[in-house]
Amino acid sequence: MRIGVYGLGYVGAVTVGCLAELGHKVIGVDVADHKVASVLAGEAPVVEPGLNEFLARHVADGKITATTDGKGTATDVDVIMLAVGTPSTPSGGIDPQYLMAVARQTGEGLRDNPRPFVTVMSRSTSLPEVHEALIAELEAASGRVLGESLGYACHPEFLRETTAISDFFDPPVIVFGADDPQTFQQCRDLYPGIDAPVVEVGVGEAAMVKYAANCFHAAKVTFANEMGELCRTFGIDSRTVMEIFCQDDKLNISAKYLRPGNPFGGSCLPKDLRAILDVARDKAVNVPMLSGALLSNQNQIDSLAERVLVDRPTRVAVIGLSFKEGTDDLREAPMVAVVERLLGKGVDVSIFDAELAVEDLTGANATFALTSVPHLADLVSRELADVLDNADVVIINHRLAAITDWTDVTLDSGTKIMDLCSTPGLASHPGYEGIYWNRTDGADHIALA
Ligand SMILES: NC(=O)c1ccc[n+]([C@@H]2O[C@H](COP(=O)([O-])OP(=O)(O)OC[C@H]3O[C@@H](n4cnc5c(N)ncnc54)[C@H](O)[C@@H]3O)[C@@H](O)[C@H]2O)c1
Repeated sequence: MRIGVYGLGYVGAVTVGCLAELGHKVIGVDVADHKVASVLAGEAPVVEPGLNEFLARHVADGKITATTDGKGTATDVDVIMLAVGTPSTPSGGIDPQYLMAVARQTGEGLRDNPRPFVTVMSRSTSLPEVHEALIAELEAASGRVLGESLGYACHPEFLRETTAISDFFDPPVIVFGADDPQTFQQCRDLYPGIDAPVVEVGVGEAAMVKYAANCFHAAKVTFANEMGELCRTFGIDSRTVMEIFCQDDKLNISAKYLRPGNPFGGSCLPKDLRAILDVARDKAVNVPMLSGALLSNQNQIDSLAERVLVDRPTRVAVIGLSFKEGTDDLREAPMVAVVERLLGKGVDVSIFDAELAVEDLTGANATFALTSVPHLADLVSRELADVLDNADVVIINHRLAAITDWTDVTLDSGTKIMDLCSTPGLASHPGYEGIYWNRTDGADHIALA
């Protein structure tokens, strides 16, 4: 393909060199004359190990050229890649001015591009709303229609400076976010020979994958350092602790605990987090991320209760009371707190929990449950149909292993369903609401190409 790469900074310069190495014809574009001159001389405009070699080789063989003419470049390319900066505004937001300027320029150039379909891919990190604004600007400036003659893809970049070239050729995942099949088709032709999982999603989801990754990386570093500070205070070597922690790739370094849904609870997580926060306070160690976790979890419980109460329901059905399916452990179960709140507002609550027999609860479990909800036994029924009967809202906290297809379960079309666990077969219900997702097709819309 003939690809125009806009922005010859850390991302753009690497992209130019690596795309040429894959066999594409690449035109690097930048407003900075010295960066263009540097690329034309076969030299990297940024410090990145290995990049000089690629640029020198492919400027010499004619696969790479560079220019400051952004509009002119757009008149003769198959794909436009945006790699301009997205710096912070004073309040911390994204300053989209460089992206918008390139959208205008390339859009105008696209008017004179004879190709019936040209895709613009953004590698710059930006928020979903910025992508929407970019698409509108591109359509207005080019006179083309998205999905008909213009493609747009959010194609987040995961490379790390200093290992950018090996990251380019061996990415953990390749993500394309677009909304039409022609764009996805053009995206697929970008990386011949690169063996990596390719994920095709919507523009917004792709944009947020990048933010999720960077927020998570930031959270990981902060977590390790907060643990480090605690260990240091106790006279313990945090390197040993975290080395062992990292060896657990079942629970710690894994996909576990990383799916949005119900807040955390149970007999260990809140208790142990509180213990660490208590000792940190005692020893004057500042661990804002860990204390934030407890606060954030409480906010999630409160906001769930608010979202249920907002419609002023008379009767609410709770499917699954314990903190996770398959146990009758109610200690610090978030749903117990939600039920307590609903009862306090005079709501009639009915509960189905496959493992729960209130009369069998003992010890701390019984104490916690019955202190929170003294008449719990009166609210629990063994019959799912009875619990669902006449409910204005159904909170699905357990998927219920015994139910393979929720479409078989009779639910009134006016009932609001608050799904906390991405329950299969529920999304088509008219009153469906995911706790942290709006799309009714849930995760099923992800296509692994
Ligand atoms: N640096 C990284 O490791 C990294 C990794 C992943 C994603 N990103 C994202 O990629 C984007 C680019 O990052 P970067 O570090 O390469 O930025 P950078 O500041 O190094 O480079 C941006 C380039 O864009 C050029 N530019 C500005 N306006 C232009 C225009 N109208 N036409 C052509 N060129 C123009 C600038 O002159 C500059 O050379 C950002 O959104 C960043 O968040 C960066």
